[in-house]
Amino acid sequence: MVTDNLTSLQTFILEEESRFPNASGEFSWIVSAISLAAKMIAYKVRHVRLQGGVGKEGDVNVQGEEQIKMDVIANEVIMRVLGSRSSIAVLGSEEDEQPTILRKGTDGGKYCVLFDPLDGSSNLDTAVGVGTIFTILRNDPNIPDAVRTVCQPGMQQVAAGYVLYGSSTVFVITTGHGVHMFELDMSVGSFLLVQRDLKMPRRNKVYSVNEAYSEGFPAGYQRYLKWAHEQGYSSRYIGSMVADIHRTLVNGGVFLYPPTKKHPGGKLRLLYEANPMSFLVEQAGGTSTDGGRRTMEIVPTEVHARTPLVMGSADEVAHVMNHLRG
Ligand code: AHG
Ligand code: MN
Ligand code: MN
Repeated sequence: MVTDNLTSLQTFILEEESRFPNASGEFSWIVSAISLAAKMIAYKVRHVRLQGGVGKEGDVNVQGEEQIKMDVIANEVIMRVLGSRSSIAVLGSEEDEQPTILRKGTDGGKYCVLFDPLDGSSNLDTAVGVGTIFTILRNDPNIPDAVRTVCQPGMQQVAAGYVLYGSSTVFVITTGHGVHMFELDMSVGSFLLVQRDLKMPRRNKVYSVNEAYSEGFPAGYQRYLKWAHEQGYSSRYIGSMVADIHRTLVNGGVFLYPPTKKHPGGKLRLLYEANPMSFLVEQAGGTSTDGGRRTMEIVPTEVHARTPLVMGSADEVAHVMNHLRG
């Protein structure tokens, strides 16, 4: 039961901004734009068959994955909404090979925004939870190359968050001062604050991994799974990262996407899946690694770089890491 006052996402961001006297308000405009795009995507996702959004777009994206129509629709919504914000210099999307430069050098644009417009989209035609993931980075106008500008380690993120289009539409964000959760109230069309400063449980005997690929996992992961089975862990895997991570944030547990035969370097993308989720998980008291080092210390070399991932409750990640060390 929510007992404190009703606070909208807009109000919350303005309150946050007032903590920084010399804040320009540009950052708030970006979050406001993302929440507008989220409401538009939420409507389209919830009427996807009526709107003819299910089915293949017929193209293959830069990931080599067949695009579904909603991937393209969600990407267009975000590009149109964010493209009009003067505070953005560069936009980067999972669906676009190259980042989009909106403003160069002295034309302004303090920030870069990277996003996965529709995460877990293969679940869309079965009405399972899907999401949008975003991260906000500072722009460096002295770097002439857009790819180099956005290839920043996760430590440098200004803000990160996701929208989960699940049984409810949830907007989760961190600006480095805790994790805050909002729920879309369709009667007023606003995201309303439902949890301030969310902290994930330190432990929960649940792991989340696509166990079908386990023969291809490095031996340490297989040792961990054998141990977890002996310890009576349960398994939950939805196949939408946003849904799997939201459950892990709220209930605790550990999410893993190890190296596999098909993706020896991991499947999930570092810049706009692993890093934003790592920022949130760390801010909620958890940890995130690539099976060795801290995810947010990895220096990306390309926009669509992939990484293995072990993230979640501190004690649960420690159990995995202990088995990886052998
Ligand atoms: P996307 O739909 O943006 O390509 O992301 C799908 C990702 C992620 O959401 C999920 O955790 C993972 O793919 C599932 O991969 P497998 O189907 O290989 O388990
Ligand atoms: Mn994704
Ligand atoms: Mn996607």
